[in-house]
Amino acid sequence: MKAARFSSFGDPDVLGLVELPDPHPGPGEVRIAVRAAGVNASDWKKRRGLMDQELPQTLGYEAAGVVDEVGEGVTDAAVGDRVFGFCPDGAAQAELAVLAVRAPIPPSLGFAAAAALPSSIETAMRALDQLGVARGSTVLVNGASGSVGSAAVQFAVARGARVIGTAGPANHAFLRTLGAEPVAYGDGLVGRVRELAPDGVDLALDVAGSGVLPDLVGLAGGAGHVLTVADVAGAREYGVRFSRGDDGRAVHALAEIGPLIEAGRFAPPVVSTFPLAEIAEAHRAGESGRVRGKLVLLVG
Ligand SMILES: NC(=O)c1ccc[n+]([C@@H]2O[C@H](COP(=O)([O-])OP(=O)(O)OC[C@H]3O[C@@H](n4cnc5c(N)ncnc54)[C@H](OP(=O)(O)O)[C@@H]3O)[C@@H](O)[C@H]2O)c1
Repeated sequence: MKAARFSSFGDPDVLGLVELPDPHPGPGEVRIAVRAAGVNASDWKKRRGLMDQELPQTLGYEAAGVVDEVGEGVTDAAVGDRVFGFCPDGAAQAELAVLAVRAPIPPSLGFAAAAALPSSIETAMRALDQLGVARGSTVLVNGASGSVGSAAVQFAVARGARVIGTAGPANHAFLRTLGAEPVAYGDGLVGRVRELAPDGVDLALDVAGSGVLPDLVGLAGGAGHVLTVADVAGAREYGVRFSRGDDGRAVHALAEIGPLIEAGRFAPPVVSTFPLAEIAEAHRAGESGRVRGKLVLLVG
């Protein structure tokens, strides 16, 4: 099969497609003919040598496609099913990928929209689970308009929470459609949030990593009511929990998203697509910040 790979660290030109042996599913796993695979910021961090040091490296840990082989003991999927999920090998940007955790693609979603979901919805759900967001909570989401943030807003609203979200002015109308009350980020954030919630908020989630943890701690009444998925240094400095998923992943998000989407209670993500063969261009676009929505590579 063809798969994306790099053999040295560097700029996007180190990326290319190579021929690799076809993978096969182990017990409980399925193999898919990949139709679309998500691209994340960690992809260019890996390519630059800022994460794993071994070479060569494949890329991609989320994908959507059609099951073409099932491993021993699999009862929730059959050959021909449209599924999306996580590729534990980190080699989903390829013609074939093995998925360990997966769920049926919601009927109204195409492959590209489905491939954009696993990482962002798992991260958002995990953060809300760890914070304990429930009916009646007032939650502040910093960075509410991006892939993870907009998922967190929608899951929190679905749980019956009141959500205040920070975003750039161009995304305030979008946040309202998701059920959040928008505020601008930047200087004066605390005052703007207190205009909406004079007593502060119950819980705060930092998705943007924009250096506002002290503000969030103040608004939420203590570091124990705040969680970040994007600010490792700030978390250490201010005693805030940093969640990276090594303490358990909220994979139940994959099964729960289908009914929400089909009920019109979760807006599928906006995606920007590139053919797999143009992976270097996809990285350039992603690193420059000139893409709208989530980057997805199309396969086949
Ligand atoms: N720890 C984990 O398990 C985990 C997993 C996945 C992702 N992440 C991290 O989560 C973060 C978000 O990922 P993503 O995919 O959601 O990114 P994204 O889709 O690119 O969204 C980023 C958002 O940040 C907003 N933003 C920019 N500057 C801001 C500021 N100063 N204050 C508040 N918001 C600001 C932007 O809002 P506007 O466009 O409205 O300006 C944008 O929508 C990344 O740092 C990623 O590495 C962590």
